[in-house]
Amino acid sequence: MEALDQAALARLFTEARTHGAWQDRPVDEAVLRQLYELMKFGPTAVNSTPARIVFVRSAAEKARLVDCVSPGNVEKTRNAPVTAIVAFDNAFHEQLPRLFPHADARSWYEGQPEKIARDALVNSSLQGGYLILAARALGLDCGPMGGFDAAKVNAAFFPDGKWSVNFLLNLGYGDAGKVHPRGPRLPFEEACRIV
Ligand SMILES: Cc1cc2nc3c(=O)[nH]c(=O)nc-3n(C[C@H](O)[C@H](O)[C@H](O)COP(=O)(O)O)c2cc1C
Repeated sequence: MEALDQAALARLFTEARTHGAWQDRPVDEAVLRQLYELMKFGPTAVNSTPARIVFVRSAAEKARLVDCVSPGNVEKTRNAPVTAIVAFDNAFHEQLPRLFPHADARSWYEGQPEKIARDALVNSSLQGGYLILAARALGLDCGPMGGFDAAKVNAAFFPDGKWSVNFLLNLGYGDAGKVHPRGPRLPFEEACRIV
């Protein structure tokens, strides 16, 4: 398989930035559906795909979400056309007979709440990364956020306790003039080893 060309690599990685200011341009529902249709193919343990996503778009629901974020995230969340609540299903293993039918994978989790919690977090975080790359591939900009009150988001959006928030992701078409200077990244020699 050939590597992607430089323009594609720039779009996904080298020129892609985290955004906090947004153009006044909506994100169509068709784009949100396309986004899921791409990110769902990213790999997860036993194909568990535990991530669940609430795309918060209406003014009323956005106001409820803004009420849960830290002060520094209020304006960027309020102004983003869409904020995705990237969550996970606390009982994701119940879907394994459907998602991984060639083995009894559900039994590998039953009665093991710590394993369920860990794999829900690991794999929904991976899926959150796939979501960011899928969004960039579709021409959207992203602003991930960990600065929010998780208990408050869960109480407001998941009162039945079946799903729990992992992180929030602002989505839209960013105002490129307002991004901060790019932070440095660790060089290969510090962050990697080939053994
Ligand atoms: C899980 C996660 C949580 C983050 N939390 C916040 C946040 O609460 N507020 C914020 O302004 N940026 C937040 N960021 C943005 C990061 O600071 C940003 O992605 C990083 O500095 C890289 O910036 P760049 O993509 O422009 O190079 C978060 C990013 C991630 C992935």
